[in-house]
Amino acid sequence: QSKVTILGIESSCDETSASICRNGEILSNFIANQKVHEQYGGVVPELASRAHLQNIVPVIDIALQQAGVSLSSVDAIAFTQSPGLIGSLLVGSQFAKSLALSLNKPLISVHHMQAHVMANLIGVNKPSFPFLCLTVSGGHTQIVKVISTSEMQVIGETRDDAAGEAFDKSAKLLGLPYPGGPLIDKYAAEGNSKRFQFAEPQIEALDFSFSGIKTSILYFLQKETKKDPDFIKNNLSDICASIQAKIISILLKKLKKAALQTGIRELCLAGGVSANSGLRKSFQELCTNNNWKGYIPAFEYCTDNAAMIAITGYYRYISNEFSDLSVSASARAAW
Ligand code: KG4
Ligand code: ZN
Repeated sequence: QSKVTILGIESSCDETSASICRNGEILSNFIANQKVHEQYGGVVPELASRAHLQNIVPVIDIALQQAGVSLSSVDAIAFTQSPGLIGSLLVGSQFAKSLALSLNKPLISVHHMQAHVMANLIGVNKPSFPFLCLTVSGGHTQIVKVISTSEMQVIGETRDDAAGEAFDKSAKLLGLPYPGGPLIDKYAAEGNSKRFQFAEPQIEALDFSFSGIKTSILYFLQKETKKDPDFIKNNLSDICASIQAKIISILLKKLKKAALQTGIRELCLAGGVSANSGLRKSFQELCTNNNWKGYIPAFEYCTDNAAMIAITGYYRYISNEFSDLSVSASARAAW
């Protein structure tokens, strides 16, 4: 077979996305964001499912159109099977299964966290196996040892909050809207990251903990706003820069430890938090200083997107890893 065309569908949280991948090249990656959650300060699962239902057909249509591909020339349908919000996952997975059945095309079920890792294989500058990937998103924080496109091991992960949650919850304490991660990034750019100090968790091995830093920030803000009610407003960029620096330091210390322990010299970032400009910069510095090779997906492939599902689908396709129609969505699933 000369050309393999994969339709990827992502619907695990609050983004409805579809992408076309042909022979490992991304031809389109259309993402519909759900604005409806902003006013609630977090994703409302029922509203997310309903928005996915409204979006899924037009989103897939647009992805096909942008790629200049007709539905009949798609060779397989890849979809996010797990983990995520069950109602959201069900919309994408039922749609993918129906499409596979009606078109008589193979189905490929994809693990969302593996797909974040696989985003590093999009484009020309790819890591070689084995590599380590620090996957940092709103729901997960993991260090993954990637042995091949289908063999991955989680060698470290968070025991409580994810790094993205640490950003979002800190932002909430500062009165910033959801999701606060990108806003902390924005304000931190003009701030002094050494101005304020927050407690650093002492966690064994390659695991993480972020619930302590949130508490430490809460107490700090309570103490300071008692003295000066405008403390947050007057020091916003320095507070954001200090919080961001602490989260980055926690993440990269463990990644460095993992690299030294495993002897693996190719490192990647993945997940929504890898869009953070401070993390991207410090990660590159870590790699340069240690003579390691560092890779970060393009911005649009860091946060939730279907291109990462489509590229994973492509690699599963060429290694003949298909699912049958009995596969169902799952909120949590092992790798
Ligand atoms: O991977 P993702 O899009 O969705 C999940 O699978 O969770 O990650 C979303 C997370 C949110 O917590 C968001 O605040 C965070 O990524 N995020 C950022 C930035 N952009 C997105 N955090 C810090 N700085 C950013 N620039
Ligand atoms: Zn994600």
